[in-house]
Amino acid sequence: MRSSVSLFRTLGKGLGLCADASSSRLAQKAVPALTATMSSTASDAEPSKAAHYAAALGGILAGIFGASCVATASEVADGLHAPHYHWPHEGVLDSYDHASIRRGHKVYQQVCAACHSMQYLHWRQLVGVCYTEEEAKELAAETEVEDGPNDEGEMYTRPGRLFDAFPSPYANEQAARFANGGAYPPDLTLVSGGRHNGQNYIFSLLTGYRDPPAGISVREGLYYNPYFPGGAIAMPKMLVDGGVEYDDGTPASASQQAKDVTTFLTWSCYPYQDEMRVMGIKACLMITILIGFAAYSKRLRWAPVKSQRIVMDVVN
Ligand code: HEC
Repeated sequence: MRSSVSLFRTLGKGLGLCADASSSRLAQKAVPALTATMSSTASDAEPSKAAHYAAALGGILAGIFGASCVATASEVADGLHAPHYHWPHEGVLDSYDHASIRRGHKVYQQVCAACHSMQYLHWRQLVGVCYTEEEAKELAAETEVEDGPNDEGEMYTRPGRLFDAFPSPYANEQAARFANGGAYPPDLTLVSGGRHNGQNYIFSLLTGYRDPPAGISVREGLYYNPYFPGGAIAMPKMLVDGGVEYDDGTPASASQQAKDVTTFLTWSCYPYQDEMRVMGIKACLMITILIGFAAYSKRLRWAPVKSQRIVMDVVN
């Protein structure tokens, strides 16, 4: 009887801790609770074998429930897991939606470029992807690039050219942090590949701003976003309906802009994906044809060998 009471007490403690614990550390305390119950029983009488088994079972169950608490706790720490969206460029035989890349570049340039650099991307890379050469040259010429030194040893500024990289909004990381309340807006060129669940995460992050739920207060200068690890991000909600005007007349809702800029950021991370897929298809076709030739040639060459009969005529 005592053993089952202690089992329930142990279980109760484990479960109770789970129910109201928000951190994994509390859940782990279920195991000392088990030891405490065990020793109190031992002072009265020797615990039976059944008590040992029951306590062990309680410990295992508390561990399992504790582990589920750990998962819940880490959802806050790691951010809500972004759902999977069906991107047009997702399948092995799919290519990027280039009109979307073009719109996404516009969103980046008009909204995100105020804080985020994309220093590994060059204007020439946009040619044939989302702009003609003339359009890309015009866009590059709108920027100012520091060059030099000239004949007099001075640095000078000139309009950007196709071979220049995208300009950075801040001179260095310190200046960026100073302007953003201590947070550093990361370079966006490779961010899509650098985050778990890349494109789904970025889309969810950009569209995931909402009022904090009751009981959660967010520090001044931070914004509630459940998809960001920790739930509070230093980037304000940037995308609003009609925030940019698209050249092709697509209605610029906030989610449309998020989708386009995410496509652009995914392209900037994997710019050769379309070419690689075409090459992959060609390689598979070539290999299939070559395997056919190889099989035929093998049978042809081996036919005389395999159809020969070697007779050894041994005399005595
Ligand atoms: C007002 C400045 C500002 C603008 C404009 C801005 N961001 Fe940010 N962004 C930040 C800051 C600051 C951070 C760092 C947040 C932090 O560490 O809390 C950030 C972080 C990010 C991150 C990384 C989140 C992570 O997991 O680390 C992504 C992705 C991002 N921004 C995308 C964008 C996109 C896309 C746009 C344009 C639609 C944009 N940002 C516009 C300031 C800005």
